[in-house]
Amino acid sequence: MSSRPYIVGNWKMHGTRAMLSEARAIDRAAQRHMKVEVAIAPPYTLIHPVHREAEQIAVGAQDCHEQEGGAFTGEISAAMIADAGAKFVILGHSERRTHHGESDALVRAKADAALAAGLRVIMCCGESAKTREMGRAVAFVKKQLKASLPPQIESAAEKLSVAYEPIWAVGTGNAATPDNIAEMHGVIRALLVSLYGEEQGAKVRILYGGSVTPGNAAEILSVDGVDGALVGGASLTADSFMGIALAATEADDS
Ligand code: PGA
Repeated sequence: MSSRPYIVGNWKMHGTRAMLSEARAIDRAAQRHMKVEVAIAPPYTLIHPVHREAEQIAVGAQDCHEQEGGAFTGEISAAMIADAGAKFVILGHSERRTHHGESDALVRAKADAALAAGLRVIMCCGESAKTREMGRAVAFVKKQLKASLPPQIESAAEKLSVAYEPIWAVGTGNAATPDNIAEMHGVIRALLVSLYGEEQGAKVRILYGGSVTPGNAAEILSVDGVDGALVGGASLTADSFMGIALAATEADDS
């Protein structure tokens, strides 16, 4: 792993204020593992409470609206989540693309809005089982990412991460194999370099997501080209999430 491993928890629609004790425990443990960058994306309602409690970890959101403000009942802008203490936002997650019909163009507009509001962006991509069975995974991910990423990032490469999350691996207990991951991360790196140039393209971090657990994290995080992990289910307790962070320190040492 080249950079400081980046381990991000996506709490999805889980968590009321009762979960703040887990966030506190994650934050305390992260202070003991400074070689790893730990962050969590709780539901909107917990962004500010987690931000107030956290001394070490960054807090982020799981989505934002593409407009700055206006008559959009129920929506939340990038500036609003930044104001609540968010430092980053996850965009283009497959659950949003599937359940909310988010197109690549919409996801790109959200990324532009987030970067303009000073947020870091974790851009998700990943193919379905059917696409992989048809042998079209690489072509699909390249096309999806190319259309979802901001076309220019100038010198904002440090603000951008890509998460490769094959849909068939998310929440299924069936993580991608090291070979699948190495291949796709190589493809994504080449795409980033072709889009943003050698220097900027090399700086964007590429995370893997999909059924990462404390049990498989060391193996996944030591795959060539993996700079960190986006973790759903296993990020909901401090014990399992920090088990993954610990595996990241070990993978980094190896
Ligand atoms: P999972 O979710 O770790 O529960 O598979 C990952 C994600 O959706 O980001």
